Amino acid sequence: MTTILGLESSCDETAAALVTADRQILAHALAGQEDHHRAFGGVVPEIAARAHAELMTPLIETAFADADMSLDKIDAIAATAGPGLIGGVMVGLVSGKALAMATGKPLIAVNHLEGHALSPRLTDLSLSFPYLLLLVSGGHCQLLRVNGVGQYDRLATTIDDAAGEAFDKTAKILGLGFPGGPAVERAARTGDARAVPLPRPLAGSNEPHFSFAGLKSAVLRASESGNHKPEDIAASFQQAVVDCLEDRLRFSLERMPDAPPVLVVAGGVAANQAIRAMLKELAGQYAMRFVAPPLWLCTDNAAMIAWAGIERFSAGWSDPLDIAARPRWPLDEQAEAVRGAGVKA
Ligand code: KG4
Ligand code: ZN
Repeated sequence: MTTILGLESSCDETAAALVTADRQILAHALAGQEDHHRAFGGVVPEIAARAHAELMTPLIETAFADADMSLDKIDAIAATAGPGLIGGVMVGLVSGKALAMATGKPLIAVNHLEGHALSPRLTDLSLSFPYLLLLVSGGHCQLLRVNGVGQYDRLATTIDDAAGEAFDKTAKILGLGFPGGPAVERAARTGDARAVPLPRPLAGSNEPHFSFAGLKSAVLRASESGNHKPEDIAASFQQAVVDCLEDRLRFSLERMPDAPPVLVVAGGVAANQAIRAMLKELAGQYAMRFVAPPLWLCTDNAAMIAWAGIERFSAGWSDPLDIAARPRWPLDEQAEAVRGAGVKA
């Protein structure tokens, strides 16, 4: 059975995983770096790169030990080659190249976004192409039509901040800690989502794109006013994100007579229960099946990179050992840039 070692190091998660073509996750070792970055309230690229360099080799060893497997038994090595923080990406990619060179096995350079985009197929056996994908992470907020491996049409993107970025900044403003997304979700559980009036950027607009920067500024103003409890701001903010995503998705779905039969969500923000609940409801209204990966597969991990490697390897693709790391790497290279500063990849 084809088995691939996946390596991930594009942001603040160092990870190594062994996955088979028949969807067995033989091992998935992961080390977060929250403790390294907490004091700074966000990921510090240089600190992240150093931590990846320290953690990658022990994690690869852990993965092989957990799977009770040796290096000569794998068929290929898949490593994230971008987009992401370049110092970190290089650590994983160079580790992958070194292993490929030492073993003579093929290297597969994986786009981190493709890792997220294909991850639902690792755990949902019946998920076939095409599907509509909402990719919401710390660096991105995109609506994509996934037509096949390596075949993506970007239908919408954020014109400023990513959805996860908005969660992280809100957590920072409210002093809820780092990483922000889970902290805001936890605080929101005890808050009143109608307590704080916040904007729904781009809601009702006649373009399909997303925007979250105005929401973040409004959260800052609400917090500085001293009139609101942090949990009420958190709950109102989360509701605003849910409403924005719903409004923008409805806009696209209303104009998509040939919509794929499945709505899929992936990326770190897909771990959010309020967002998952809204998407499930929305999919039902459009007679679409809704698929969301398990929570651990939403946030960064190496199993999704190994799986994307399996998908590419099965299609007969591998990459030369001199392939370069790419800090920016859009899934849909044809997509036009949109206005604003949020064209992150
Ligand atoms: O996909 P991911 O792990 O890394 C990137 O590729 O960016 O996504 C990380 C993002 C962070 O912004 C984090 O705050 C957010 O996902 N996130 C969440 C939740 N869990 C993680 N946002 C909202 N609710 C959550 N439960
Ligand atoms: Zn990610």
